[in-house]
Amino acid sequence: MQYFIDEMHISPETMNNVVIIGASGHGSVVLDCIEQENKYNLIGFIDSFKKKGYKHNGYEVLGTEDDLPQLIEKFNLYGGIVAIGDNWTRGKVVEKISKMVPSFNFITAIHPNTIIGKNVTIGTGTVIIPGAIVNANAVIGKHSIINTKSTLGHDGYMSEFSSLAPGVCTGGNFALGAYSAISLGTNIIENITIGAHTVVGAGSLVIRDFKNNVMVHGNPAQVIRTRNKGEKYLAGTSKPARNRLRESTFF
Ligand SMILES: CC(C)(COP(=O)(O)OP(=O)(O)OC[C@H]1O[C@@H](n2cnc3c(N)ncnc32)[C@H](O)[C@@H]1OP(=O)(O)O)[C@@H](O)C(=O)NCCC(=O)NCCS
Repeated sequence: MQYFIDEMHISPETMNNVVIIGASGHGSVVLDCIEQENKYNLIGFIDSFKKKGYKHNGYEVLGTEDDLPQLIEKFNLYGGIVAIGDNWTRGKVVEKISKMVPSFNFITAIHPNTIIGKNVTIGTGTVIIPGAIVNANAVIGKHSIINTKSTLGHDGYMSEFSSLAPGVCTGGNFALGAYSAISLGTNIIENITIGAHTVVGAGSLVIRDFKNNVMVHGNPAQVIRTRNKGEKYLAGTSKPARNRLRESTFF
């Protein structure tokens, strides 16, 4: 395996201390990647919406992003990764941390059960989740997500803060713009370009290019409407599905 990670060299003798920013479902998955990769010593989570001391997958929430300067001092933190599924929100949090702590090292999280081809470049802050395949000569921009069992074909290009949801399949020579999201189970034929801030809806078949700032879906995928930067496209988990199933009103 020969791939390049756009981050500082880390000596295997010293496991640097890191945090995950975002104690959510996606945070749990990123935690799995970091634990299995065994390259860093995970200290805990940072979260602005969960109380300090709250336990998430056995690790404590240590504070909010605003506490990072003190936490870096206290725990001799090397850096961490922003585990927020929404591309725009992840971008905002990365921006905030970079301004507050310019020396913060954003790390990658690449689960060992992924296949990374020859001559692949992976930007800092990117997460590659179990079952994902990245083929030869692909370039993945900073702070991107390649989710469960999705594939980035050969010579693929993902701009920063972009994402492939679980089960996405992209043909060779695919290019994706910044902050754009390809949703669950979408298939994309070869030689396709999709612009920035565009969302391709779940289960789509993409057979032509799409420009910036559009919502597209269907088979074949078509433009449904224009889309503003930062518009939400993920449902969130304010009430877990298993709780809804327990409620008598569900049936
Ligand atoms: C694209 C997406 C964001 C659209 O959500 P939305 O804007 O809230 O869409 P709405 O629910 O308002 O639906 C509007 C219409 O489009 C249709 N529609 C929505 N998403 C569709 C899709 N992916 N494919 C086909 N039709 C779709 C709806 O059925 C509805 O049709 P109607 O007006 O005839 O009833 C959503 O389908 C999606 O893909 N979400 C991301 C899922 C994902 O990948 N999650 C990642 C988990 S890790």
